[in-house]
Amino acid sequence: MPSLMGYVRDVFKKLDEKHFKILEVIEEKMSRYEVVPKEVIISSSGIGPRAEKLLRKLHEYRLIWAPLGIERGFCMNYNGLDLLALKFLVGRNVIESLGKPLGIGKEADVYDAMSPDGRRLAVKFFRIGRTSFKKYERHRTALISARSYIEASIKSAEQEYRALRMLYPRGVKVPKPIARNRHVIVTEFFQGIEIASAQYLTDPLRVLGDVLENVKKAYDVGVVHGDLSVYNVLITPEEEALIIDWPQWISSSHPMAKNHLKRDIESLVRFFRRRWKIGELPEEYLDIIKSLYGETFLTSRKGV
Ligand SMILES: Nc1ncnc2c1ncn2[C@@H]1O[C@H](COP(=O)(O)OP(=O)(O)OP(=O)(O)O)[C@@H](O)[C@H]1O
Ligand SMILES: [Mg+2]
Repeated sequence: MPSLMGYVRDVFKKLDEKHFKILEVIEEKMSRYEVVPKEVIISSSGIGPRAEKLLRKLHEYRLIWAPLGIERGFCMNYNGLDLLALKFLVGRNVIESLGKPLGIGKEADVYDAMSPDGRRLAVKFFRIGRTSFKKYERHRTALISARSYIEASIKSAEQEYRALRMLYPRGVKVPKPIARNRHVIVTEFFQGIEIASAQYLTDPLRVLGDVLENVKKAYDVGVVHGDLSVYNVLITPEEEALIIDWPQWISSSHPMAKNHLKRDIESLVRFFRRRWKIGELPEEYLDIIKSLYGETFLTSRKGV
């Protein structure tokens, strides 16, 4: 199997409406059952006895999971959920084809994709708990968490999408949000590398200022990133900064907002200082920082 997504993409072509109907029934019934009994799936699908064969096919393709054996029943896994989300997004003419992975992480996978009108997209699939999913696949204890992991992934996608919808129209440099379904969000693709891997910048101080300004703008809109590392700031070939990866954002009015802001900014400034030997920060940068969370060691003359 070259990649999981390659696999899902191939399977996508082999499925017809009836397979999807069964996946939808399992998805829906998972709110009521830990493992959806086979009979319940068959009768709710309205397909009749042929549903049994379709179920076996879906299981063979690893789109559903039978933790108690295939005679007892099934639950959803990320492969099946991916397919339902992809079907929705393809049906709505959001995505036409899915390409190579752009980033495979612990909690999410991001893939390159194309829209029907030829625009390049980034498609992010949340995968919370994926590692424990694999590890405990055969244990009954994994059942409750399987459902809650899927729910958590959907929640994260909703959260991130909500942040992007607030930030993008107000001019904060984030990827343009295009669509969300289930645990998947689609944004515009942009050429860029993570700051952590950027060795050379023509004007690192300007880039840092750019990031600070955007953090301030986001704060004014009501959003604090909360995980602003050098892995979540991308730099375009024109050396423009874009801030990505917002599922854990908190509101600016949250009692912990200033603490998160402080951590976000200080880790970033520290990195810039180390890598690009930046000395004292310009007065206007310190003013932005002060306006965000008041006097700190960063705003003192000595710096870090
Ligand atoms: N809109 C985009 N255009 C181009 N590449 C992107 C885009 N969004 C994300 N990427 C790529 O995918 C990677 C992961 O994205 P993101 O930070 O949103 O996921 P993640 O939650 O960090 O995954 P994890 O934390 O589990 O590793 C990014 O570092 C970047 O390389
Ligand atoms: Mg990230």
